[in-house]
Amino acid sequence: MTAEIVVLPSKRAVADALADRTATALRAALAEKNRVTLCLTGGSTPVPAYQRLATAEGVDWARVHVFWGDERCVPPDHGESNFGMAAHALLVPAGVPETNVHKMPGACPPKEGAAVYEQALEQFFGDDLWFDVLHLGMGDDGHTASLFPGTPALGVTDRRVTTGTAPPSATVRDRLTLTLPTLGRAGLCLIAAAGAGKREAFADVLDAYDGETEAQAEPPPIARVEGTLIWLVDRDLATGLTEDDEEE
Ligand code: 6PG
Repeated sequence: MTAEIVVLPSKRAVADALADRTATALRAALAEKNRVTLCLTGGSTPVPAYQRLATAEGVDWARVHVFWGDERCVPPDHGESNFGMAAHALLVPAGVPETNVHKMPGACPPKEGAAVYEQALEQFFGDDLWFDVLHLGMGDDGHTASLFPGTPALGVTDRRVTTGTAPPSATVRDRLTLTLPTLGRAGLCLIAAAGAGKREAFADVLDAYDGETEAQAEPPPIARVEGTLIWLVDRDLATGLTEDDEEE
């Protein structure tokens, strides 16, 4: 696992970097093969990034297939839908063909929805699931996708998709989420996180990377994602990082 940390001046700069790095990676992948895959995240941080990505030069969206790392168990037109957010910010403005859009079935009962998406991934990838680009975010508690600390979903390793449960504070608690092993199957994983509210979680991530998670404590779920990771964080979140930390 490699984790590069890029500190940017603002939340807006994080979004711009997420969009620009994604476009660069998609263009490179499109130059190599006919069909490429992009797995989106939910949350608020990516919204301006997806709006910017929709107008990126040189991305042939007819050859880009779009997936999601997690979804709230709501219909696609619900205000909390990750699909709905991406459709508005990216899919419609970019003209991504509907046949390339592989949304999680949020409107199904959770267990059924997980089984349906498991099947959809199997049908598309067979045994070789691989995302050319994967987007992830991080919650203040260190969750990512809908893998929340201390929940059973974190321990699911024999499935690609499982159900998740957000804390009582969440507007929508029932979730669908890719499992940790599946989140590790990406050529490039871009993690976009911003704001002082995530400082503590990020410090726990760095401790986990350094093997310094306190005994009896669990590393944050995001710290358990394997692969080629590039963290895009803002100064508010990274306050107090040493030079060494930034060179991870
Ligand atoms: C979701 C996301 C979730 C998100 C984090 C950060 O469905 O909400 O997949 O993992 O990335 O909660 O969200 P913000 O970008 O809003 O801080």
